[in-house]
This record gives sequence, C-alpha cells and structure tokens, in this order.
Amino acid sequence: MTTLPPFIFATCQSGVENVLKREAARQYPFLRPAFSRRGFVTLKFADATQPLEGFRFEAVFARAWGFTLGRVEVGDQAEAARQVWKLIGEIPVRMVHVWPRDSAPPGRSDPDTPWPDEVEQIRSLISAAAPESVNLVAPDTTPRRGLRGQWVLDCIIVDPDEWWVGIHRLEGPETFYPGGRFPLCLPEHAVSRAYLKMEEALRWSQFPVPPNARWAELGSAPGGASQALLDRGYEVLGVDPAEMHPAVLQHPKFTHLRRRTTQAPRRAFRKIRWLAADINAAPNYTLDAVESLVTYPQINIRGMILTLKLPEWTLADRIPEYLERIRSWGYNVVRARHLWYNKQEICVAALMRPFKRKPVVVRQKARRKRPT
Ligand SMILES: C[S@@+](CC[C@H](N)C(=O)[O-])C[C@H]1O[C@@H](n2cnc3c(N)ncnc32)[C@H](O)[C@@H]1O
Repeated sequence: MTTLPPFIFATCQSGVENVLKREAARQYPFLRPAFSRRGFVTLKFADATQPLEGFRFEAVFARAWGFTLGRVEVGDQAEAARQVWKLIGEIPVRMVHVWPRDSAPPGRSDPDTPWPDEVEQIRSLISAAAPESVNLVAPDTTPRRGLRGQWVLDCIIVDPDEWWVGIHRLEGPETFYPGGRFPLCLPEHAVSRAYLKMEEALRWSQFPVPPNARWAELGSAPGGASQALLDRGYEVLGVDPAEMHPAVLQHPKFTHLRRRTTQAPRRAFRKIRWLAADINAAPNYTLDAVESLVTYPQINIRGMILTLKLPEWTLADRIPEYLERIRSWGYNVVRARHLWYNKQEICVAALMRPFKRKPVVVRQKARRKRPT
C-alpha cells in the first residue's frame, strides 16, 4: 500500500484560490493552507493528522487535485525529469499528466487557449525517463474502466523553473485528463460558447441519458448549450424570453417557448425528463425557477444540469445550502464543479437514482347526492 504524503495540491482558475481555501477550511478543518500561487494551492494535513487511503478532496473549485510529493527546481529539463521519478519512488504510476497552473490575471483566464507545446514536450521527457519497472499506458483520451483506481504522476508547471510533483488516482472521467481539462473545442456551427459548457457538464456528470431523451433548458438563448444537446440526438424545449439563433430555431428537434420560466405553461414539461438551466440571475432566482417545475405534481424530472451564477464570489460560501435545497426535492446524487468552461459560476449535476415518478392523482368526480 502506498504511504500517502501529508500534503495535497489543487489547481483552480486564476483568482479563485481564496474561494478554494475557504471551501477547504469549511469542509476539511484539518487541512491548513501552505504554499500557493495564482491557480495553484497546496494544503497540509495539520496537527499530526494523516491522509487515509480513501481520502478524497471533494472541492467544487479544485479542477484537479492530488497528493504532493515535492517540488523540482528546473535547470536542465532532462535532469529535472529524473528528479521527478526520484520523488515518485516505488509508487506504481500508470500515466503521466503535465499541465501548467492558470497564471492569467484574475478574471482574464481564457479556457480556449491551448497549453504551450512545451507542456507535451515535458510530458514526453518525463515518460522517457521512467524506470524500466514502470508500466505506463500511452496517453489516452478516453477514460477506461480497467484503469480506475490506478495512480497518475502529476507534474504541474508552476513556473518554467519550478515543477511540483504529485499523484492522483484515476476515478471520475475528469481525472483522466491533465488538470481535469476535457479535450474539447468549439465546433464551427456552435452559436455560443455555452456549447462547450454543456458538453463538459455532460461528460463530467456521466448521466445515464437515453438516446432520444427530452430536455428543457431554462435560459436557452442564443442556443449553444441546446445545440450540444441536439448534437447528441436529444429533443430540446428552450425556455427564454430572448431570441434564439435562427440555426437553433430551425432544428427539427428544437422548440422555443419564448417566455420566462414562471410564465411557461406547466403542461409543456410533462414529457420532459432532463432539465438544464443557465439563467443570468442570482442562484436563488434560478433555484426558485427550477423548484417551481420539479415539485409540480405532473412534472417528473430525472436529472438536472444547472449553472448557478455567482455575481459575488462570497456566494460560493453558500453552495452547501444550494445543494441541500436541491437534495430536498428528492435528488440524491448532487455534485458541483467549477468547470473548465465556467467563469464566475458553477455547474451542479443532480440525479434522482432510482428515478421515481410522482404518483398520478386521478381526480374523482364528486358524487351527486340522491334526493331523499
Ligand atoms: C447566459 S444566457 C444563456 C445562454 C444559453 N444557455 C446558450 O447556450 O446560449 C442567460 C439567458 O437567461 C435568460 N433568462 C433570464 N431570466 C430568465 C427566466 N426567468 N426564464 C428563462 N430565461 C431567462 C436570458 O434571456 C438569457 O438569454
């Protein structure tokens, strides 16, 4: 069994470090902030606490996390690659992930900017320096069940002359990609960047959505997210008082309800099983809109992908309260993540497992009293 070091690292969007540290302090009071830079945070297990084998750092704002083994000063990169393996020691790693921290000025991160070519060169260099006993799998872009639970060597380029080395286990689909970044790029026909946000949410949540499923999206204009759903073959009911892009409107599986959610007739949702929301309003406004639908007697929603905007970062402190509210509607699998394509907002994935429809209430006609 691998002895786990008493430090963890997490990478996050630039400018979100303090939000992440507050989240960690709330959920893991035994973790203390240690070294950090923009986009990169480390935390130490304090007061002689030690990570146990099953420890998971389930933080919304950590896009990737792992156990920290140490840092390597980089002069000659080939020598640095050998140092990386010294830190790994006997840990049986199966993959090498290399990525840079997000060092953009806060609020200026561009999720579309590809990482520099050097990142791949460093990954090749480290892989080539692996001891013979190490059995690395080729860089793989599709999460494979057989690799679940295996260790990955993490090398975060904190600065060109400073790499931090750690390990994480392959678990959820995002853990298969360096930095938790799914390999996505905007298709030419996409009418808004929300396409990528929805695609990332679908890949991360891994919802068991059947082919031909029916979705509704609250806040659907101009239509990028709806397109991501349509491209997967789903039917979409877009609810938005604003205009949809003509390319989306023309899609045979798309219907536009040009209304606010509160004014949308409830019968339009009777056959809908999956709900997305991306309303540009404070979280409780979105949650009120969603609650009014999912608690309606004749509406049965199995799973939801909700964007909760955080106009103030301090609202991040209330995320546990928002998730609890969603659970109170009967959703027992509720997770949140600050997606790669989220800006000042988070994605919540909520699923009812097993799915239970509300009982059908048959109204009986009142019997007329017979005249006596
Ligand atoms: C961020 S945009 C949505 C982007 C969209 N998901 C896409 O893929 O292009 C937010 C949208 O929420 C809509 N909106 C605001 N309040 C709403 C409400 N009460 N019901 C439905 N839509 C609403 C706005 O009109 C706006 O189009």
